Amino acid sequence: MAFPEGFIQELKARNDITEVVSGYVSLRRRGRNMVGLCPFHGEKTPSFNVYTEDDHFYCFGCGAGGDVISFIMRIENLDYVDAVKLLAQRAGLELPENTYDDSMSKLRKRIFEANREAARFYYKSLYEPVGREGLDYLHGRMLSDRTIRHFGLGFADDDWSSLTSHLKSLGFSERELTAANLAVPRRSGNGVYDRFTNRVMFPIIDVRGNVIAFGGRIMTDQKPKYLNTSDTPVFKKSENLFSLNNAKNSGSRTLLLCEGYMDVIAVSQAGFSNAVATLGTALTGSQALLMKRYADEVIICYDADEAGQKATARAIPILRSAGLPVRVLNIPNGKDPDEFIRSQGADGPEAFKRIVERSGNDIDYQLQKLRSDYNLEASDGKVAYLEAAAKLISSLSSAIEQDVYASKLCKEFGVDKVAFRSQMQRQIKRRSRERYKKEQQQARAQLSGRGDRLDTDRSKVPRSSSAEEALLAYLLRSPDSAEHIAREISPEQFQNALMRRYYQYFLSRIQDGKDALNNLSADFSAEEAARVYQILNKHSGVALTKRSLEEIIKVIREESVKLKREDVGGMSAEELNAYLLKKRNTKN
Ligand code: GTP
Ligand code: MN
Repeated sequence: MAFPEGFIQELKARNDITEVVSGYVSLRRRGRNMVGLCPFHGEKTPSFNVYTEDDHFYCFGCGAGGDVISFIMRIENLDYVDAVKLLAQRAGLELPENTYDDSMSKLRKRIFEANREAARFYYKSLYEPVGREGLDYLHGRMLSDRTIRHFGLGFADDDWSSLTSHLKSLGFSERELTAANLAVPRRSGNGVYDRFTNRVMFPIIDVRGNVIAFGGRIMTDQKPKYLNTSDTPVFKKSENLFSLNNAKNSGSRTLLLCEGYMDVIAVSQAGFSNAVATLGTALTGSQALLMKRYADEVIICYDADEAGQKATARAIPILRSAGLPVRVLNIPNGKDPDEFIRSQGADGPEAFKRIVERSGNDIDYQLQKLRSDYNLEASDGKVAYLEAAAKLISSLSSAIEQDVYASKLCKEFGVDKVAFRSQMQRQIKRRSRERYKKEQQQARAQLSGRGDRLDTDRSKVPRSSSAEEALLAYLLRSPDSAEHIAREISPEQFQNALMRRYYQYFLSRIQDGKDALNNLSADFSAEEAARVYQILNKHSGVALTKRSLEEIIKVIREESVKLKREDVGGMSAEELNAYLLKKRNTKN
């Protein structure tokens, strides 16, 4: 069950793709298209194109592509029905009733509601006798009642069923509670029990104000110290950040990236509401891109211990490649932000402010770290350090940045700038050789289709795959030729299963008089839909002439009668004869 096609057409007409995309990406005109920095991967030069004339977008950098609905699905992290709802609302369009399947959308809504009620329940428990232990714990960690309320902290008691019974009494079903990961099915198959018990609770809230998940901390030394909501239809650990809802409204375009819940809360209580944390996993590219939407700069505030420093080293390139300048907080005495603030007593907020202001950028940080690896008293140690530093500085993409650091180092160590530059040049050459090699490998892999998880047939039948793909592009660009093409090639002659599926789908739509692409994001997965735009873009430069069409058809025919080796083995003599006959006929 999908939305009526006419409605989708109207929806797209009323939501101009350039306007919608402009709400998220700053676009400028280039020829007939609009271009900008891709919001789906980090880049410094724009390869994200919006094609105003035929209403789609495509990124040459990462292959993301689709119509205005797929754009909203990806950028707002919504499913198809919710993306359509959002666009309908934007354009002031009434939704047609009862024509679409919104069971997933309804379930997501119920999960949000259940989570909100759970957060209320946990918060209330904290101030009841049963939550005494939890409240004492939080107070013991120097959190004020104001902070507790601000973050909506709470307590899950030791009962294994108190939340479940409460939510059931409010009308939530066991299925909904399990889907929200607030409850877990009993092994006996009979009923459910609470997922969180005997923990202080931290609600995780998205930028729209929905409670999407929880983290819970045990109050003793037991393991696991923290327990998080597993991934649900509304929550993906690797794509969300704790407290981004607060940070986004902090009025600052700088984000403080912490390791944990308690750090964010302590930092916030010290006056910095622009702090966020990952949810118990290493920083991911999507989290960095999410931060990029609300920030122009990130200060990494990870623990000063070895694990924290390793995580810092890993986070720097991820943030940089999302286009975010980075600074690194230097916390004295091996502490985390929360411990540091508490250790300073009443001066905590001021002391924290001082170290934030003193935080250097990531290059200074990395150079400083390098320094501790070498013995700078000895000449060979100095040389090794300078070589390592040249390598680091040469990796900067801005020439000005390179020059600033090179000059500074040369001055400090009294080395000749020309010599240092030539060392850097050597590194740059080596890196560009490596990049070239890697690109070649990637291009080869792409051409052969190796490692293509969506189109697994490509590497097995490369020649048919290319021809079939070209035929699809031809068909989509010249739907008038559908009758002719359909007569020449039947879907069964396609060797590539994905291309065959597209072919059947587009042919039948065109033959029914429908716009081939109108319903693509409803009928295919996001990845499959993007692949269609990839194919269209790949074949946009070359004019597809009648002649090339005949050539394409010829190749598809030839390939369709070629036997795959595995087939021959199982053939009877008769089948083999029939095959040879068929082959001879197609040749003529
Ligand atoms: P406190 O001990 O309460 O101060 O927390 P912390 O933030 O200092 O803890 P730590 O540095 O050990 O962990 C940082 C973050 O990693 C936490 O906020 C959690 O999100 C996550 N984390 C820590 N321990 C666990 C665990 O046992 N399981 C899971 N899933 N996540 C954890
Ligand atoms: Mn801590």
